[in-house]
Amino acid sequence: MAEERMLITGGQRLEGTVRVSGGKNTAVAIIAASILSETPCTIENLPNIEDVAVSVEMLRYLGAKVDWCPDEGVMQVDSRTINRTDVSLDLSRRMRASSYYIGALLARFGRAQVPLPGGCDIGRRPIDQHIKGMRALGANIDTSRGMVFAQADGLVGSEVFMDMVTVGGTINVMLAASRAQGTTTIYNAAKEPHIVDVANFLNSMGCRVKGAGTDVIRVRGVQQLISRRPYAVIPDQIETGTLMIAAAATHGDVTICGCIPTHMEALTAKLLEMGARVDERDDAIRVRSIGAHRAITFKTQVYPGFPTDLQQPMSALLCTATGTSTVVENIFESRFRHLAEMERMGARVRIFEQTAVIEGVPQLHGAAVEATDLRAGAALVIAGLMAQGTTEIYNTHFIDRGYEHLETKLNSLGAKITRIND
Ligand code: EPZ
Repeated sequence: MAEERMLITGGQRLEGTVRVSGGKNTAVAIIAASILSETPCTIENLPNIEDVAVSVEMLRYLGAKVDWCPDEGVMQVDSRTINRTDVSLDLSRRMRASSYYIGALLARFGRAQVPLPGGCDIGRRPIDQHIKGMRALGANIDTSRGMVFAQADGLVGSEVFMDMVTVGGTINVMLAASRAQGTTTIYNAAKEPHIVDVANFLNSMGCRVKGAGTDVIRVRGVQQLISRRPYAVIPDQIETGTLMIAAAATHGDVTICGCIPTHMEALTAKLLEMGARVDERDDAIRVRSIGAHRAITFKTQVYPGFPTDLQQPMSALLCTATGTSTVVENIFESRFRHLAEMERMGARVRIFEQTAVIEGVPQLHGAAVEATDLRAGAALVIAGLMAQGTTEIYNTHFIDRGYEHLETKLNSLGAKITRIND
């Protein structure tokens, strides 16, 4: 495969207005949930990213009719023609969210065969809580030979207590519970914005989900789910945060439109603590930064705490803060690999298990670096924008999984980023 990479000329101050795309993590969940609708359903505001493209392939592999206009962000899904309930290994390897097809296929067809999602560069990422929840609803689940074989002659509502807060587990159990007989209560549920988005999508099809966004979610199952109107997914919380960090990192003045400021409060608080200026409007956030940034400490937490997906981009910003910062990664077991790449650019970092200590340096310098996962790639883009000289980022396909036209958006604000293919 030709080695595509990004070339960033650092030192450009970002200025102007940019519009954030629809959310990756909500899109992949809602596209999977579209299987539940007995009638064709239309989803809007979808980002044009690799994970959405893989979701389209997944639905077509199962036999669904899918029309997707990537540039308009609109997708029509007709799941009435689905003729199989087994997901291919290749597709499941290309997208972590393939686990959602367990809950969706089980609820609609009473069976599902999905390869166990592999771990990735940030950790093992098991799905034991997803399985615990499905079994509580009466499903028979076998996980031998690296596959999940799920089967149920009718799901029955139950009480599910999650051993730890899990976004995917909460969503998967909600999907299965939407067609269960009776009410399911999920305790210790995740509260991320896209949990609420998935609940709203299910309710738009006639389900009765209450409490999404709190740690107790009640799902009253229904006989059938009927999509009656197009559903637009919420804006991407992590892309919004990445753009906010890029604005501060280049001492710029950027307004991010089409976002939901209340989703960004943990990051906003930390940017203010560092000395940046953040002004919120109804559906826009303006980030300005002129002077040096103060070093800070932050710990990743479940929502509404500091999002683990912004830990990596934020750690890039801290590399040139005045003083020593401390970053504690509480959600995934190995989400610091990007720091070794940033050391090649002059960052000074020490890692002690789940804690990274970042000593601010006056300046980063451009270098050839490698993205190891999606948000590591975003972190290296931020570092490249900050660095003196040119940075070359390899493995840009990771970035394309979760950011729609990232360099186009950044270049529209004054960045100098090009892609080159050998
Ligand atoms: C979702 O992953 C997101 N992905 C991740 O975003 C995000 O980092 C994560 O939530 C946390 O916010 C999608 O939505 C597609 P979890 P998910 O289940 O659902 C452990 C990105 O960059 N766990 O909340 O897999 C797990 O190992 C990606 O956009 C179990 O032990 O996250 C992890 O340590 C990266 N057993 C922790 O819980 C389970 O059954 C949180 O995982 C489930 C999870």
